[in-house]
Amino acid sequence: MDKKKYYVTTPIYYASGDLTVGHCFCTVLTDAIARFKRLDGYDVMFLTGSDEHGLKIAKKATEAGMEPKEFVDKTVDHFKHVWKTLGVSYDKFIRTTDPEHIECVNKIMMKLYEKGDIYLSKYEGLYCVPCETFFTESQLVDGKCPDCGRPVEKASEECYYFKMSKYSEFIKKLFEENKDFLVPESRKNEIYNNFVKDGIQDLCITRTTFDWGIRAPFDPKHVIYVWCDALTNYISALGYGSDNDKLFKKYWPADVHFVGRDITRFHAIIWPTMLHACGIEIPKRLHSTGFITLKGDKISKSKSNGFNPLAISDKYGADALRHYLIKEGPIFNDIPFGFDVFLETINSDLCNNLGNLVSRTIAMITQNFGGIIPAPDKVEEEDKPLIDLCNNVYNKVRDAIEDGKVDVAMREIFEVIRYANKYIDITEPWVLAKSEEKKPRLASVLYNLAETIRICTTLLQSFLIEIPAKIFEKMGTPNDKQTFASIKEFGSNNYGYIVTKGEAIFPRLDIEKELAYLNQETAKPEKKEEKVEEVKEVELIDIDYFDKVKLEVGTVVNSERVEKADKLLKNTVRINGVEKTIVSGIAKYYAPEDIIGKQVVVVTNLKPVKLRGILSEGMILCAVDERTNDLTLVSPTKTMPDGTIVC
Ligand code: ME8
Ligand code: MG
Repeated sequence: MDKKKYYVTTPIYYASGDLTVGHCFCTVLTDAIARFKRLDGYDVMFLTGSDEHGLKIAKKATEAGMEPKEFVDKTVDHFKHVWKTLGVSYDKFIRTTDPEHIECVNKIMMKLYEKGDIYLSKYEGLYCVPCETFFTESQLVDGKCPDCGRPVEKASEECYYFKMSKYSEFIKKLFEENKDFLVPESRKNEIYNNFVKDGIQDLCITRTTFDWGIRAPFDPKHVIYVWCDALTNYISALGYGSDNDKLFKKYWPADVHFVGRDITRFHAIIWPTMLHACGIEIPKRLHSTGFITLKGDKISKSKSNGFNPLAISDKYGADALRHYLIKEGPIFNDIPFGFDVFLETINSDLCNNLGNLVSRTIAMITQNFGGIIPAPDKVEEEDKPLIDLCNNVYNKVRDAIEDGKVDVAMREIFEVIRYANKYIDITEPWVLAKSEEKKPRLASVLYNLAETIRICTTLLQSFLIEIPAKIFEKMGTPNDKQTFASIKEFGSNNYGYIVTKGEAIFPRLDIEKELAYLNQETAKPEKKEEKVEEVKEVELIDIDYFDKVKLEVGTVVNSERVEKADKLLKNTVRINGVEKTIVSGIAKYYAPEDIIGKQVVVVTNLKPVKLRGILSEGMILCAVDERTNDLTLVSPTKTMPDGTIVC
């Protein structure tokens, strides 16, 4: 019989910087589902990837002195490294710069265009650059972006619209009639009330203000809106519309898209509308997770308070982080991140609960049965609650996974483990061990414990990656294809295996010591954030420090626009008779002809950096009003000889 297919996806992450523990949340949850479904006999396709186009990424690349492609390549390497470290078992990694993806986006766009669902018009609105989203006045919170809290810019441009309003009824019906389409219910209601109920609006789907993106196939002056580009990844990864669409035919529609709550709206409205308009089936379900928060805010890279998942997993192991992220649910709600809880959970679940069960069981089997798991005698009344729990745990895990409640699924297993420790207290095997005549009963108790460990460990493989392997090795019990089927029934032949004593499966942590360490580590990025974002306290410097900065007057002798970079001017500045090339982000404020001949102040001892392939040998000083984004060059108020020191 053919295996049943299961297609599950994570969001594709913006390739704009390093991943935070917040990003790992969605991906680790999705990984747990993929792992469970594979164990449960499904033919799984688990997709993740990177979202690489758009203004935000182009800006980041410029800041880093790199070409966009060079920048995203580096970021994607980082993503893959994090996923590997955390044991994320994706089957495919899609990049929106992959030629196959670009071709697929072109196909979808042409389909909509030819159908008459795309028209040319003009957009005027308030745009949040980091979020790449236009907002209306009423959507703003305190005049700022409702998603990230940053200032928005007034923007107006010619653009193409996707006639989404035409599909209002379709989306309304989807929300009203398809009970399971979007989980949880609360988020579904919120989106329904705010964006669906009164009809959906047409969507501006092209931009002309930047060029790092996929060109619209119907008008190459325009670049496709990043969301239309990004959402298409879920089918481009399967070869939709290409000569080789075997995967698409096999796996589509997706069984579940896992998404964070900030991007749920795009997945619940734009995505099904695009698909429906193209005559493609829509995904079966969306699971919308909450945020991992810090002091009430989403842990995010744009606020630079991101905790580094690699550092955490380096110190405590991938399983410690996976366990924390999965367990701390409910996953549909926001979860405040706390190192205290993180550490306590390691000690209580991994050391005390699971670790103790395994080490106590192994110690008693070693002492009383020469290290061989004994065959059980008969079942007593006091065994029944444990056996019942074990017989039901697979069903409970499966059902919770089906509902997207990954946290509940894993907690079900730890409930059994907790009870097994209690079972030891109830049955008192150390008392049984004292008399030869109670040995058959002791055999039953230890067998039951070994069997419980086997069932729980088999299921735990969906959630943790290193610990289950360690336990299987210690218990000597097999872990093969048959194992999974056999855990559905307690007591499938599981004795005669040789256990091995050894180090604990998870060492106990000294919480105070670890907390001190972690707080000291994380104090670093937080300080940086205050400096960059708030500048509340001015750090005082002494005169020697200031003296290190060499400021000189120079005259701009030439200036030209940088190709494909609408913000940059490439200037030639004469200082002391020497001409320096300096790239500045001032093209929106000065045309080349405005600046040629002007005297400017230049930082002349700055390390050169490459911007758009041009070596920039200094910095021209400007006064910038961050509230209005206004900018002016700083010039001496009377003409001074080139090379005059500014001090
Ligand atoms: O939004 N806690 O990418 P992204 C929980 N490229 N989830 C978090 C989080 C946190 N602290 N921080 C981020 C994008 N996330 C788009 C997606 S999909 C076609 C395109 C989640 O890198 C966030 O909610 O900004 C989102 O689901 C995912 O990480 C990617 O965020
Ligand atoms: Mg985001």
